[in-house]
Amino acid sequence: MPIIYDEKKRTFKLDTATSSYIIKIYEENYLLNLYYGAPIPETYISGRECRQRNASFSLANSVIGERAFTPDTAPMEYGCNGAADFRISALAVRNINGDSVTDIRYVDHKIYAGKPGIPGQPSSYVNNESEADTLEIYAEDAVTGVRVTLYYTVFSSCGVMTRRVRVENTSSFCCDIERVFSLCVDLPTMDYDFISLYGLHYKERYVERRPLAHGLQGIESKRGVSGHCQNPFVALAEHNADERHGTVYGFNLVYSGNFSALAECDFNHSTRLIMGINPVDFGWRLAPGEYFDSPEAVMVFTEGGIGEMSRIFHRFYNTNLIRGRWKNQKRPLLINSWEAAFFDFDTEKLVDFAKTAKQLGIEMLVMDDGWFGRRNNDTCSLGDWFVNEEKLPGGLVPLIEQVNKEGLKFGIWYEPEMISPDSELFRKHPDWHVHVAGREPMIGRHQYVLDVSREDVRDNIWQQMYKVLSENKIDYVKWDFNRNISDAGSALLPADRKKEFFHRFILGTYDLMNRLVTTFPDILFENCSGGGGRFDPAMLCYSPQIWTSDNTDPIERLYIQFGTSMCYPASTMGAHVSANRRTGYETKGNVAMWGTFGYELDPRKLTEQEVEIVKEQVRRYHEYYDLIHYGDLYRLISPFDNPYRAAWQIVSQEKDCFMLTLVTMRSELYPNIIVKLQGLDPKKQYRNETTGDICSGALLMNAGLVLNNVASRTGESCVIYFTEA
Ligand code: GLA
Repeated sequence: MPIIYDEKKRTFKLDTATSSYIIKIYEENYLLNLYYGAPIPETYISGRECRQRNASFSLANSVIGERAFTPDTAPMEYGCNGAADFRISALAVRNINGDSVTDIRYVDHKIYAGKPGIPGQPSSYVNNESEADTLEIYAEDAVTGVRVTLYYTVFSSCGVMTRRVRVENTSSFCCDIERVFSLCVDLPTMDYDFISLYGLHYKERYVERRPLAHGLQGIESKRGVSGHCQNPFVALAEHNADERHGTVYGFNLVYSGNFSALAECDFNHSTRLIMGINPVDFGWRLAPGEYFDSPEAVMVFTEGGIGEMSRIFHRFYNTNLIRGRWKNQKRPLLINSWEAAFFDFDTEKLVDFAKTAKQLGIEMLVMDDGWFGRRNNDTCSLGDWFVNEEKLPGGLVPLIEQVNKEGLKFGIWYEPEMISPDSELFRKHPDWHVHVAGREPMIGRHQYVLDVSREDVRDNIWQQMYKVLSENKIDYVKWDFNRNISDAGSALLPADRKKEFFHRFILGTYDLMNRLVTTFPDILFENCSGGGGRFDPAMLCYSPQIWTSDNTDPIERLYIQFGTSMCYPASTMGAHVSANRRTGYETKGNVAMWGTFGYELDPRKLTEQEVEIVKEQVRRYHEYYDLIHYGDLYRLISPFDNPYRAAWQIVSQEKDCFMLTLVTMRSELYPNIIVKLQGLDPKKQYRNETTGDICSGALLMNAGLVLNNVASRTGESCVIYFTEA
């Protein structure tokens, strides 16, 4: 059983394949966390309830008395606000009296097989009930009448636990949630590095690592979306943990809105980490009987280093997060019109693209931005989702018919949560954009954000989308989001619910996306936000792939893809070969092959030599699709650590084949490159498909491969495939 309740000790023991987690119901029904780490057989560890309380003026519960216990230093399972736990709190509820002291104590619990969903929100799932068990702990604040359910789902065959919280108002008065985090983890030491993914448009998810320090540190988004600047991912890694060794905790929030992940180290040198909805500009009013669900957080623990943490996330997301027809089905190799034509296209040009792309073996044409309203540049028409017949005479039907005749599928671009001031929709509904009364809202890329927290707005957009998608043979939708949200407000929300806006907005987005995937289950859906500005696990519940970045330069992509791979698998990373970059097509292809591969160029402009390279890439894409999408990733040489080169390896689950990619970012005069491989079966013999050499997995991992004479010039790269001999 992955979840045990020890009645005598009053503890819960939660075991994944790589971790144990112990919760204690302490005196006065305080919920404490006694352990989260590598597997142990015990259901209880003594001496963990109380920590030193010297010199901090810590306070005590008068019933327990002034002994060692104080909420201020105890490892609280879910630290709350104002009742003598002075660290960052996971929960604060302001009651009808106006105070926000929140103090929850254990009442009851339930353990069962399987995992429930979250109404209206995306979350991971079980494929069958035997995959995971769930523990619900019920705790109450007796004064405010708030009942909290702490949900823990334990996946016994991998190193994953998920957590979330429900807050319910059981009193006869309204109360206001001021902060509600999805997880709270109290670790007894602070000997960790805080790893996060920072960035910006064109430079998403760069890895940053810093030692924890006393006080507060963390990351957040206040942009209305998860955003380019910080990803809702944090790892705490032992200082000496590297790709292959060491203790690592990984945390990832299944949420696309404003988030916060904070670590606080106290005078006891212990660490509290909380992750959830950003409390800044957040609040939620609960009328009697109402409840609020937090998003889900995914937690991974491993002693196998940062690389193993990533692989646990990857397998889990491929198996228990991504869903629908395209989860396991091979996705069509696409060519996208954006960098090939921008807004300058018509039926003839697109059909021409399709004809040439067909010769290359490409399987789908995606018509990007510019097909609707009067959209000939980015200053107008968002919200007017009807075909521009000046560009596409007769509408989409003749275009799609011709594309299909060439044997290609057809995809289309949308930006449903946006509205241009210069649009028919805006002229008809001048109060449908996100704004607050009396203020001129900020503008970004000439557009406002559409207030999708409103059902009437969502219905309108959905009807427009439904018409196009149901009347045409559309195989793919790219869903974009090209600005942040400011001036947050909805014309419909009353003053005492205004703080609900940001969360209601993202619930509205989820609702729209849910309509799309349930009404059109066969459509392949790719998420995008000015490149990779909404690359998070929540979006993966709707779209199995996300456009990783608008930056398709293969050398710059190395950093972006290495960072993204911290927790997101190759099957999710949209990666295209484009034309207007310095590096050659070989390297563009070799880097893009580590993702959901595609092209973003005018295929008519390829030289004969480039055509041959592309054909070979297409062949390899088909041959190695399963290996790349579902294999295990090993980051061998990181561009963040090495100025000269990057290397990675993808190994099949059966360890019977793998690919090794090496990219030279900067050449060295006298290189001495020995790459030690990882993740192989030491006893198996592998054939190098380039040289024909056969050697053991043990040799490849221990002695390594000498790669001095391949791809050694700046911008060059090589891929070597190995199969079991
Ligand atoms: C964003 C996307 C691009 C493209 C444009 C269209 O920037 O990241 O791929 O779709 O929008 O306007």
